[in-house]
Amino acid sequence: PAVSTRLNNPFLPQTSRLQPKREPSPLSGPAHLFRLSGKCFSLVESTYKYEFCPFHNVTQHEQTFRWNAYSGILGIWQEWEISNNTFTGMWMSEGDSCRARSRQSKVELTCGESNRLAHVSEPSTCVYALTFETPLVCHPHSLLVYPTLPEALQRRWDKLAQDLADELITSQGYKKLLRALFEDAGYVKALGGNSSAREGAPKAEGLESLETCRKAHSELTEEIQRLTSLLSQHGIPFSKPTELSRLEQHLGQGLPTHGLSEQLRGDPGLRGDAL
Ligand SMILES: *[C@@H]1O[C@H](CO)[C@@H](O)[C@H](O)[C@H]1NC(C)=O
Ligand SMILES: *[C@@H]1O[C@H](CO)[C@@H](O)[C@H](O)[C@H]1NC(C)=O
Ligand SMILES: *[C@@H]1O[C@H](CO)[C@@H](O)[C@H](O)[C@H]1NC(C)=O
Repeated sequence: PAVSTRLNNPFLPQTSRLQPKREPSPLSGPAHLFRLSGKCFSLVESTYKYEFCPFHNVTQHEQTFRWNAYSGILGIWQEWEISNNTFTGMWMSEGDSCRARSRQSKVELTCGESNRLAHVSEPSTCVYALTFETPLVCHPHSLLVYPTLPEALQRRWDKLAQDLADELITSQGYKKLLRALFEDAGYVKALGGNSSAREGAPKAEGLESLETCRKAHSELTEEIQRLTSLLSQHGIPFSKPTELSRLEQHLGQGLPTHGLSEQLRGDPGLRGDAL
C-alpha cells in the first residue's frame, strides 16, 4: 500500500509517478529478438502516447499541455504466451493499479518492414492489446519454441512426444509436462502462488481471501478518489453514477460481499482511461 498510494497520483510530477511494482523478468525466448531490449517504440493515438520497450515495459502518456498530464505503466515484462509450440505474445503484467487488479498488456509480434508499434487497443478493461511489427519475425520459423531450447530440454520434449505417441501419457498430461518444461526454460512463470500470473483471467481474479478483499477495498477507494479529484480539478460537473454510489456503499460497509466482485469485473461506469 505504501507504494500504491503513489501510483496514479496526479499531483506528483510525471517521472516520479511511474513507479514500477517490480523488476522485469530476464530476457528469454528467441535470441534474435534480444537486440530489441533497451529500445522503445511509441505510437500516438488520439490523446495518448503509448510506448513499448520490449523485455521491459509498456507505458501510456497523456498528450496534453496541462502540467499534470497523466502517465501510467500498462505492464512490466513477465513472460511469453506460447501456443501451438510458437511464441505468440509477450505478456507485460503488474502495471498501475486498476480497480482491484493491475493493468496488463499482451504484445503480439507480427512481420513488418520496420520495427514499429502499429496498434493499441483495450479489449477488456485495463487489459491492453498491442501489435508490434518487426522484420525479425518474418521468417516462418522465427517464433518456434523448440529451436530456442537448450539441448537437454529438447531431449526432454522429444521424450514427452514419444511417451504421448506410445500412449504412456495422456494429451492432458503431455500439456502439463510441456508447460513445466517451458517454466524450466524461463519462458513462462509458474502459475499460482502470487497473483501476478494471468490477472485478467476470470479464475485468477478473486476476492476469496480477507487479504485480497482488503487490498481490493483500498485500491478501489484510491481509484474513486483519483477519478473524483480529476473531475473536480477540471471543473467537470458530475453526478455520481449509481454504480459508483453502490460501490462506495459497499466500501463504507467494510468488507465487500458477493455483488462487488461482479461490479469489479463488469461495470463500465468507472473507467479511468475514459478521462
Ligand atoms: C521502461 O523501459 C525503458 C527501456 O528499458 C526504461 O528506460 C524505462 O525506465 C522503463 N520505464 C519504467 C517506468 O520502468
Ligand atoms: C501449428 O503450427 C504448425 C506449424 O508450425 C501449423 O502448420 C499449424 O497449422 C498450426 N496449427 C494451429 C492450430 O495453429
Ligand atoms: C511472491 O510474493 C512474495 C511477497 O508477497 C515475494 O517475496 C516473492 O518474491 C513473490 N514470488 C514470486 C515468484 O514473484
